[in-house]
Amino acid sequence: MSELRRIAVLGGGLMGSGIVHVSIVGGYSTVCREVGNAQCERAHTAVKRSLSKAMEKGELTAEARDAALNRVSFVTDLGSAASADLIVEAIVEDLAEKKALWSAVDMLAPPATVFASNTSSLSIAAQAAATRRGDRFIGLHFFSPVPVMQLVEIVRTVTTSDSTHALAHEFVRRIGKIAIDTRDSSGFVVNRLLVPYLLDAIRAFEQGVGSVRDIDLGMTLGAGVPMGPLALCDFVGLDTLHRVAESMYSEYRDSRFAPPPLLRRMIVSGYLGRKSGNGFYRYGGNEPEPNALMG
Ligand code: CAA
Ligand code: NAD
Repeated sequence: MSELRRIAVLGGGLMGSGIVHVSIVGGYSTVCREVGNAQCERAHTAVKRSLSKAMEKGELTAEARDAALNRVSFVTDLGSAASADLIVEAIVEDLAEKKALWSAVDMLAPPATVFASNTSSLSIAAQAAATRRGDRFIGLHFFSPVPVMQLVEIVRTVTTSDSTHALAHEFVRRIGKIAIDTRDSSGFVVNRLLVPYLLDAIRAFEQGVGSVRDIDLGMTLGAGVPMGPLALCDFVGLDTLHRVAESMYSEYRDSRFAPPPLLRRMIVSGYLGRKSGNGFYRYGGNEPEPNALMG
């Protein structure tokens, strides 16, 4: 098994910036590729903020934070990301976009480089088929917020080699996470169970079962979850949740995964959750407030 030294993260949004955080804290020299300078700047700011948060919580010293920040660079050029030993993709949940990116990276990366997708629901096999390295392709599914959530799902597809699988386990162990193995089946273990629950919470609200506040309080106080389901929808990103639900519905044709009409209407109205400042809640003040426009 080849040794991992350099990691590249493609996409520096919610997940990509979190993966950069754990990679640089884990001691890896890391390059993050975004689509433009403004997006690079945003990703850099997110990583600095997240490292500071970890420091405030006593998980990191100031020296460790500074050393971690010295290990990362943000680039727009794909070539400088392609020379890493492991490339983790965290761009938008769209199979065509992911395949186009992988096919371009495959042309630039050395043969030994291993590719990993952080997809929530898309086929690992279909992404691997866009490259000439099906044996060096795997899923590494992180959870949000990445620095906090302990789990990574390791998704082995039909073409993945034993050495790629072992390397993925080694990477997850080195960054201090706990791995579970799962098959390349849309949503893997966690989203297969979590996504129908989140969609059901939206349906319950849509059908007038309770207000946003009461549905969320019901689940936090009555079922002990750390965050209500509608707050969690906003946290994941309503656009991302919608794409994940669509892809799971298209794989299973099971109505549990069908995106509720309200979710579509919120997205076309620009309500994407925390990332857009509004969703089931409005963000911007000290505490999120249920979005009055939602009724
Ligand atoms: N390092 C870096 N960032 C941290 C951090 C740390 N140690 N601790 C918290 N944060 C970040 C959070 O991302 C959040 O970001 P903002 O600053 O942008 O608001 C903020 O700090 C909130 O932190 P708080 O201290 O206020 O909150 P907390 O520490 O009490 O817990 C939580 C927050 C960990 C998110 C908790 O509410 C929780 O566990 N929620 C459920 C999360 C969950 O279910 N995640 C899975 C989502 S599904 C998924 O990821 C898969 C998919 O494919 C869609
Ligand atoms: P996001 O919208 O926050 O970030 C996506 C980023 O990718 C954006 O900053 C965008 O500029 C960038 N991007 C788009 N095309 C690119 C390209 N060709 N090269 C480099 N960067 C590019 O989305 P996110 O929530 O971080 O989700 C990213 C991936 O992670 C998706 O596949 C999603 O399903 C998965 N995921 C999301 C969550 C979650 O809770 N949001 C959890 C686990 C996995």
